Parts: sequence; C-alpha cells; structure tokens
Amino acid sequence: MTRTRTQGRAQAASPDPYPPSTGAGAAALLAWYDRHRRRLPWRALPGEVADPYRVWLSEIMLQQTTVAAVGPYFTRFLSLFPNVAALADAPSEAVMRAWAGLGYYSRARNLHACAKAVMAAHGGRFPDTEEGLRALPGIGPYTAGAIAAIAFNRQAVAVDGNVERVMTRLHRIATPLPAAKVEVRAATLALLAPDRPGDFAQALMDLGATICTPTTPACGLCPWSGPCAARAQGDMLAFPVKAPKRARPLRHGSALWLVSGANVLLTRRPPKGLLGGMVALPGSSWTVTHRLDQPPPSPLPARLARLPGHAAHGFTHFDLHVSVWRGEVADGTPAPPDHWWEPLAGLAQAGLPTVFAKMAQLAIAAAPP
Ligand code: ADE
Repeated sequence: MTRTRTQGRAQAASPDPYPPSTGAGAAALLAWYDRHRRRLPWRALPGEVADPYRVWLSEIMLQQTTVAAVGPYFTRFLSLFPNVAALADAPSEAVMRAWAGLGYYSRARNLHACAKAVMAAHGGRFPDTEEGLRALPGIGPYTAGAIAAIAFNRQAVAVDGNVERVMTRLHRIATPLPAAKVEVRAATLALLAPDRPGDFAQALMDLGATICTPTTPACGLCPWSGPCAARAQGDMLAFPVKAPKRARPLRHGSALWLVSGANVLLTRRPPKGLLGGMVALPGSSWTVTHRLDQPPPSPLPARLARLPGHAAHGFTHFDLHVSVWRGEVADGTPAPPDHWWEPLAGLAQAGLPTVFAKMAQLAIAAAPP
C-alpha cells in the first residue's frame, strides 16, 4: 500500500487501523449500519432474504447513476418486469423505453441479454458466485462482487467510487486512481466481515454516500474516524488522488424536427454503438468537424429553418452541441422507411433519451404545437 511520505501507520491515531484479523473494523462499521442504514427500494429489510433479481437490476441501474435518479426507474421497471422471466420475454423496444432517460443505454441492452442468458443457461436462477456472475452480459467485477455479496452473502467486496473514497482516506492511499484500485480492493478485502459480507458491502456504500462524502465529510459521525489516517492528518479532501482527466472533445450535429399535422418524425438508432436501439430524432452524425449551420439530411423533401440556440449534452467521452432544424410536410404524408410519425401529444412517453428530449424541448419552445 502506498502512503504519502509524511504519513505512515506509526503516525496514525492508533498504530494500525483495525488489524484485519480482529474484525474490529467490520464490527464498528456494521454496528453503525444497523442504526443508520438507508432504506432503499431494492434493499431487503433486516432479517429478509435479498432477491437476486432486484439486487442485480438495482446494481446495473446504479452504475454511473445516483440513488435518487434510480429510485423511480427501479420501481417502474419492477412493475413492468416483475421477475427475470418477464424481462427476458419482453420485446427489446419495451425494455429500452423503460430505460429511456437513465443514460448509458448499453446497460439496458446488456440487461436484456443477461435476463435471456439467465433463463436459457441457468434455468431462471442467477449464478451465486462472482465467477459465474462475471460470465453474464453487462456484469463486471464491481457488479459481480456486489451481487455475490448482497444477494448470496459470498465473501466478496464491491468497490465503487464511494468505497474508493472511504478506503483511500482510511489508509491515506496516495496512488492516483485508477491505478489505486488494486490497493483499495486489497484493503477492503482485509476488513471484510466474514459473517455479513452483504451488509458490509452496503454499509461501505452508505458510509461513502452519507458520511465520507466528497467535499464535506462528517467525520464526527463516522464509525471509522478513530483509525482514519486522513482524518488524523486533517487532509481528507486530498483523497482519493485522481489521475488528471483528458479534456472531452466538443462534437457538433444537426437534428431534424419535421412536423406533419400534430406529429413529428422519429426514427430508431442502429442497434450497436452510442444510444444503440434508442428512439431518436433524425439528423446528421455528430462529429468535431460538423458545423451548427449545416442543415441535417432529411428523408423527406422539406424547406428547413434553423431554430434559435442549440441543445447541449455531455457524454462520457465528448460534449455535444446540436442545432435543431424545423420543417413541415403535408398532413398524411407517409413516413419514410425506418421512420414513423409520433403524435406530439405523446412525445413524453415515446422513450426519447435525454439528449433527444433536450432537442425536442428546444423545438417545442421555439414553435409550440
Ligand atoms: N450504489 C451502487 N450500489 C448501491 C446499493 N446497492 N445501494 C446504495 N448505493 C449503491
């Protein structure tokens, strides 16, 4: 484990933060969790057995997405697809529509593929080991650890951003992330509670989310404040150390807002790639060389006028600005192949991902139907 030069174990408040063999660290954390655990829709109550389907669904939704944002999606998803068999049997359009707005749509495609694999290869039961889970679509090391621990009480850890923050502060791990992941994982495994690995995983998540927060850690309430090396030095906010991020390039595009009567023309993105399989406005591709004053290609002849402003959206690897171009064709014009007319009144339920919903908002604000 790498530490900064000014700080070694000898200088910490106690000589060794919770020697792993004693289990004292896990005991302190679990005692705190038993009093302060968050009630979350996917969580089993104390004494209840966790449902692997709910645990899996929540962990996939919670990748790159906050607990607050996931809550309503999780509840709606469960009412539409109450179990893995129902999800596997659902048409992919229904799954993608239920996911619309959550972002990172490859998660939804993998989720559906995973449900089908659980039905086809595992008789409808999730594998109960990290290794078995990792073999399924969309399940990486973090998610496999989380499901194995939470749903099956396996000796596994789930190291996400919250856990990285807690552990790098506890031990003052100065290696920048992502390289520090190996040390963080080892440090987490060393503290794991052998009898309650599922609660241990969730307790660490809760500690990171509610106490050991990025900018205002509530150290006075933390069950690990005594042995915390960063707390002893007063430099909690210096951890985790992160490798500098590369600047995100800015891409541009143009979108088509083509109206016919009380309808707008929609299409579906190709199945693979960014926003694959999602409902979309027709338009140009998104590139660094595209200019906002270039009109989008239109599958129907129409005079296009650019609407004021542009829609802005941030993806993981690039930022995007899109101009929106309005055109009109006669009511009753047939939709071209791979497109359809969506009633404007039902657009909110059409399953547009956020980036396209922003373009639609711009168009509706500029020219209310
Ligand atoms: N973040 C990722 N997984 C989580 C969980 N199970 N509970 C709370 N936050 C989480």
